Amino acid sequence: MSARHFLSLMDCTPEELNALIRRGIELKELRQRGVLFEPLKNRVLGMIFEKASTRTRLSFEAGMIQLGGQAIFLSPRDTQLGRGEPIGDSAIVMSSMLDAVMIRTFAHSTLIEFAAHSRVPVINGLSDDLHPCQLLADMQTYHERRGSIAGKTVAWVGDGNNMCNSYIEAAMQFDFQLRIACPEGYEPDAELLARAGDRVTLVRDPQEAVAGAHLVSTDVWASMGQEEEAEARLTRFRPYQVDCSLLDRAAPEVVFMHCLPAHRGEEVSCDLLDDPRSIAWDQAENRLHVQKALLEFLVEPAYHHA
Ligand code: CP
Ligand code: NVA
Repeated sequence: MSARHFLSLMDCTPEELNALIRRGIELKELRQRGVLFEPLKNRVLGMIFEKASTRTRLSFEAGMIQLGGQAIFLSPRDTQLGRGEPIGDSAIVMSSMLDAVMIRTFAHSTLIEFAAHSRVPVINGLSDDLHPCQLLADMQTYHERRGSIAGKTVAWVGDGNNMCNSYIEAAMQFDFQLRIACPEGYEPDAELLARAGDRVTLVRDPQEAVAGAHLVSTDVWASMGQEEEAEARLTRFRPYQVDCSLLDRAAPEVVFMHCLPAHRGEEVSCDLLDDPRSIAWDQAENRLHVQKALLEFLVEPAYHHA
């Protein structure tokens, strides 16, 4: 199938990714000025959610509406996907009626299989392995506040999860150094780490990771699907909480990000999201703007009149 997909940051060139960030900033300005921009009139995005979501659902749904199109929310519970219809068959049928499909799923292989059978672009709205749309928003947010991230140092503190894996890809694509501090046994994807080479450093001590960093980011200690491990993880990750004093060890101009939802008092101290160095609310809002840029990039523009 020839459609262009966005399952990972590696599906775009660095130039394309930087163009998406710049376009996200432009689309944000257009919206702030109250300008209507509807290149996707009559286009329809299907959104399959196997896991819960606030930001991803809202940003894609509102984004499609703002671009002149529509979005349809599909949950496996209410579709034949949940009753065992094969992913490939579902992809053939769904992509014959839709103009793009966003999927939030457990196994990353579901996305790959769906994309292999889809005639229209497939977007990864989070899998167990990656969360590339969140990284687009993170990169836009950094750019807005501090300019280019190229050559900067980013610290990831906590679980080597889907977000951490996407930060490794971002380090390669946006040209920054990444230091990851995670407990033993909770490392990110080994293949990705090897691919990133000396661009990414793995340490155990959060203080070592954040020393002089320009961006510090973290995420929940138990991701969706790991609910049964949550209790054990609380103890294991306790030394990895990001708080104001840890942030004091970073560069004076450091910014803090969290993809949200946050568990205050666990991976972040209760006060950190309200610290002036935290830009997590902008980061959340930018999901809307940069994903509109992504939709504009991937989805064919409006139909012609007959
Ligand atoms: N950050 C993020 O993807 O949030 P949701 O789970 O609310 O979509
Ligand atoms: N790592 C988290 C991110 C949520 C947006 C999860 O997968 O649940």
